[in-house]
Amino acid sequence: MIEISHLTKRYGPLTAVDDISFTVEPGQVLGFLGPNGAGKSTTMKMITGFLAPTSGTIRVCGHDVAHEPLAAKACMGYLPEGAPSYSEMTVRAFLEFIADVRGLTGERRRSRLDDVISRLALAGVLEQVIETLSKGFRRRVGLAQALLHDPQVLILDEPTDGLDPNQKHEVRTLINAMSKDKIIVISTHILEEVDAVCNRAIIIAGGRILADDTPQALASRAPSGRLDDVFRQITMGIKPSHSKQEAAHA
Ligand SMILES: Nc1ncnc2c1ncn2[C@@H]1O[C@H](COP(=O)(O)OP(=O)(O)OP(=O)(O)O)[C@@H](O)[C@H]1O
Ligand SMILES: [Mg+2]
Repeated sequence: MIEISHLTKRYGPLTAVDDISFTVEPGQVLGFLGPNGAGKSTTMKMITGFLAPTSGTIRVCGHDVAHEPLAAKACMGYLPEGAPSYSEMTVRAFLEFIADVRGLTGERRRSRLDDVISRLALAGVLEQVIETLSKGFRRRVGLAQALLHDPQVLILDEPTDGLDPNQKHEVRTLINAMSKDKIIVISTHILEEVDAVCNRAIIIAGGRILADDTPQALASRAPSGRLDDVFRQITMGIKPSHSKQEAAHA
């Protein structure tokens, strides 16, 4: 379970995430939707312990991310925005390194490496240096490292960004296949993806949660029955929130 309570992140006068609370349970594939700058990546960075909140608490698999970071991180896989990795390493060396970090040994290590290499179709690029890979392959390597220890919780920041249509389909199929017993949170700008993989969607803008429902229920809020119309209706005109003092000077 992910339990987020009154989570806030301020960057100077900008409140990027503004007092949000929600829980996510096993079996849920939660789509995080919102315009550029809404606070999606910032929230994901805080859930995964990469960024400390200004205030609020996060528990993942029963562990407080601030106080038991190692236990919380052990049960999570994270694909950060832009899928950064060690660009001078080969794909094989990078995945072996992640296997070391995750403490995988013996037969399980071999089978997990084989599994992600085949799922993300990386066999042909294992000896290639990561910085020479195309954007989509770099993202696939990022997904492979997130899945390597078969975590209970997956936080994937725009997992299909830059993938070709075949790989988009593969990754969506993969997310569907993993969704039964895991918690998966994805951010995306592709609203059809929300229909394809998510059973819950949160629309966030200006650091606040503006809607939280099933994709079907959300879509039915527009006369057209289209999620993109609902998205536009809900998020148009929402500005990032600045402190009162800053707003007075603006
Ligand atoms: N390190 C930082 N310092 C200052 N402001 C930041 C920093 N990181 C993010 N922000 C600001 O916080 C806000 C939320 O950014 P965030 O990256 O979470 O948005 P997002 O919803 O992921 O957007 P996108 O769809 O473009 O990925 C933005 O206004 C951004 O400029
Ligand atoms: Mg982002």
